[in-house]
Amino acid sequence: MCGIVGYLGRRDCTDVLMDGLEKLEYRGYDSAGIAVFEENNSIKTVKTRGKLTAMKEKLTVEGKPLGHCGIGHTRWATHGEPSDVNSHPHSNGRVTIVHNGIIENYAELKEFLTDKGYKFLSQTDSEVVACLLDYYYSERNPLRAITETLKELRGSYALGILFKDFPDRVYAARRGSPLIVGVGEDESFIESDIPAFLKYTKNYAILEDDEIVCLDNNGEHFFDVHGTPIQKEIQTAEWDVEQAQKCGYPHFMLKEIHEQPEVVKKTIDSIVKDGVPDFSGIGLTDDMIRGFHRVFIVACGTAMHAGIVGRYAIEKLARLPVTVEIASEFRYMDPIVGEGDLVIVVSQSGETADTKAGLELAKTRGAKTLAIVNVKYSAIAREADMCINTLAGPEIAVASTKAYSVQIASLYLLAFRFAYARGIILEDELKRLTAQLYKTPKAIQDAIDQSSQCQFIASQLINTETLFFIGRGFDYALSLEGSLKLKEITYIHSEAYAAGELKHGTISLIEQNIPVITVATQKHILEKTISNMEEVKARGAYIIALCRKGTAFAGKTVDLKLELDFGDIDDMFVPLPTVCALQLIAYYSSVLRGNDPDKPRNLAKSVTTE
Ligand code: AGP
Ligand code: GLU
Repeated sequence: MCGIVGYLGRRDCTDVLMDGLEKLEYRGYDSAGIAVFEENNSIKTVKTRGKLTAMKEKLTVEGKPLGHCGIGHTRWATHGEPSDVNSHPHSNGRVTIVHNGIIENYAELKEFLTDKGYKFLSQTDSEVVACLLDYYYSERNPLRAITETLKELRGSYALGILFKDFPDRVYAARRGSPLIVGVGEDESFIESDIPAFLKYTKNYAILEDDEIVCLDNNGEHFFDVHGTPIQKEIQTAEWDVEQAQKCGYPHFMLKEIHEQPEVVKKTIDSIVKDGVPDFSGIGLTDDMIRGFHRVFIVACGTAMHAGIVGRYAIEKLARLPVTVEIASEFRYMDPIVGEGDLVIVVSQSGETADTKAGLELAKTRGAKTLAIVNVKYSAIAREADMCINTLAGPEIAVASTKAYSVQIASLYLLAFRFAYARGIILEDELKRLTAQLYKTPKAIQDAIDQSSQCQFIASQLINTETLFFIGRGFDYALSLEGSLKLKEITYIHSEAYAAGELKHGTISLIEQNIPVITVATQKHILEKTISNMEEVKARGAYIIALCRKGTAFAGKTVDLKLELDFGDIDDMFVPLPTVCALQLIAYYSSVLRGNDPDKPRNLAKSVTTE
């Protein structure tokens, strides 16, 4: 996905666009560009491969466009390598656009337009949209050009559009990729996400799929896909600028790791009433819970790893069968899901294309759907039957940390309520479990206070090219997340394995000094995990153990130990503090290797394309 911005108003447009793109750079950053109407009503476009720093240099060299109306884009390439010519905006004829998404039928459209005499400069799918808009602009009616073009596009898009004959208008349209309209005092904005223009206005309207907006000097005008005017609700963002900025931390990721004790408590508080989890406010009643035969948890990446923790908790407490599905598989595997099933979709952004598609499939099959999202106004939040809004606040770093923690906190609370509603536990146990969960913010802080030990462990990995994570049960779920965190921001090849499974083949990869990070916190299965540690130690592994304070390991099994003080919390809740240590190890490893942990290569914060 990428970041799109647009502006119309009294301010210096280039400054506003660049400011907005900086706030959205986490969404994609292989190239960037802006297009602004200048005083002579011609459009000046400046764009370049590279991060926004390269864009700023280019503006200095080429001179910044001076005007009050324009669009901007920071790209995460899908079609055509990152390059100057493939960066957005794209212009062709009388139209200039920026695009987030994938035009799936771009090849046939490109062939049609080529036959009509259009010449293409880039390898992108997006450029066909500019040409098609120009093709339908024959009557010089922008709205009609847009409605005709949208009829022919297949795939996903959020579009910012300038028509050269209308130097005081910005148009936008979307299907499948997010777009928000910022409503200021005599100024208007379009943005892929709210943090872009939070400093100018907190008032916004969500552009829904197949809706169009025109920003002009009289405000914001909304239309449906046929060009018929519609009314939109103007909402007010609950976030403030401070929350969306680094606040003195060197990276958003470190800030967001440190926010976890507070946001986990806030999220628990938002669900717990009179000492027990209460979901009646979102429409999830005990009667409804009793009607579920099976639960699916459908998500991607870190959110899917949170789902695995949720699965262990729900099955252990509520004795309800749960399967965790990778959303990109679930959406195409013709799953056996339907009436009587609950499908929980977990997504920080609430815009992940595969997860959204899994949700839509589940709904068509008659399953009840429950979203756990961190962005209240997101597409997934709006489409699910029920929605838990986690309160992690804006998560800017590409590597998800605090969102994972509030996701598992929410899943624990669901597990408690499911167990109670199904008569597996009584109210006393429901209250005890809830009270236990309330102890986790302190345990999380204790883990964060071990940052220097995490930094030391990171220093032992600085020259590592490959390593393993192993664990059993909740520790296996944590191993998966610890491995992903490390991989995505250090580029070390890492693999997570169920500790008991390693010996069935992959142990052949263990050789002298290969680091094996063992998550060994679960008391009831610790002996088995220790046996697996000894198996790899016998083959030369360098063992780093994350364990409960006071855990003893015989002999020389462990080379490096990180003991975490969980207090008296049940083993079940240990993932919350332990994952912080794994996040910090990944963060410091990334920084030590000279990477930018907030913007790792090849990645984007929310993957709104397939
Ligand atoms: C997490 O660190 C990754 N950046 C990625 O796996 C992410 O969790 C995944 O893309 C899902 O995103 P979502 O939670 O916004 O749906
Ligand atoms: N598919 C378009 C491209 O590759 C847009 C990608 C994006 O969403 O950044 O340029």
